[in-house]
Amino acid sequence: MELKNVILEKEGNIAIVTINRPKALNALNSETLKELDTLVDTLENDQDIYSVIITGAGDKAFIAGADITEMKDLNTMEGRSFSILGNRVFRRIENLEKPVIAAINGFALGGGCELAMACDIRIATQKAKFGQPEVGLGITPGFGGTQRLARHVGIGISKEIIFTSRMVKADEALRIGLVNKVVEVEKLMEEAKLMANTIAANAPIAVKLSKVAINRGMQCDIDTALMYEAETFGQCFSTEDQKEGMAAFVERRDKSFKNK
Ligand code: CAA
Repeated sequence: MELKNVILEKEGNIAIVTINRPKALNALNSETLKELDTLVDTLENDQDIYSVIITGAGDKAFIAGADITEMKDLNTMEGRSFSILGNRVFRRIENLEKPVIAAINGFALGGGCELAMACDIRIATQKAKFGQPEVGLGITPGFGGTQRLARHVGIGISKEIIFTSRMVKADEALRIGLVNKVVEVEKLMEEAKLMANTIAANAPIAVKLSKVAINRGMQCDIDTALMYEAETFGQCFSTEDQKEGMAAFVERRDKSFKNK
């Protein structure tokens, strides 16, 4: 499939995915979502990619939402299908067995805020603005916003943001835990790459299993969650990287992980 609206670049062991429809503020139409879906196959299968950054092209927006021009004439079944498509792609990103960092500048609204929330870590610029403006368009959030926002910031704040459809500036996003870090505009990609490379320098299987354990554990009771942790912890001892990491510590030398 030829990719028109998303760009994949690789730098060493990190991948940079750019949503590239700057004239429409990177709004997500179904074509872009399908391309992103295809691109997730590559992210999954490329064993040399250890961590991923998702960002938006241009200097105005990460993503200004799902494409309103495409949505405006949908009927009930088409609306449902559009939501299922977005949710499926975002869930694949959330479940990708590699850490995903959202690098957010400008508007992250509706589907943009929802994509950012499906990522593992969010780095925003001082110019970032978040929001779920859907009720102002006569719809509910449809790519996970009714579910993930509450999981990130709590039910009360989530309801306030969704019901009022107000925008949340970067400093508030940091305060309520919607983003991990706020940086200057010029530093965004540098910071995101620094974090992606820091993660990529650790044992990739251990990072992957940590993500799996955290994600699964958040969906169940603490006893089941701690069993997941014991399972993932145990699995690490079948890896070469565990032997290498601990040998390097004991021998006081630099480690060299192989993703094995
Ligand atoms: N869908 C389609 N096109 C969009 C868009 C969107 N979500 N957001 C912006 N655009 C387009 C505009 O139509 C405009 O195109 P033209 O130049 O062809 O007219 C271009 O991007 C630039 O946008 P503006 O001229 O509006 O830029 P601005 O700086 O004046 O305003 C903005 C920026 C406040 C983000 C404004 O564009 C806006 O409010 N966009 C819509 C935001 C929104 O409501 N997002 C939620 C969508 S619903 C959703 O996402 C549902 C879901 O959960 C799945």
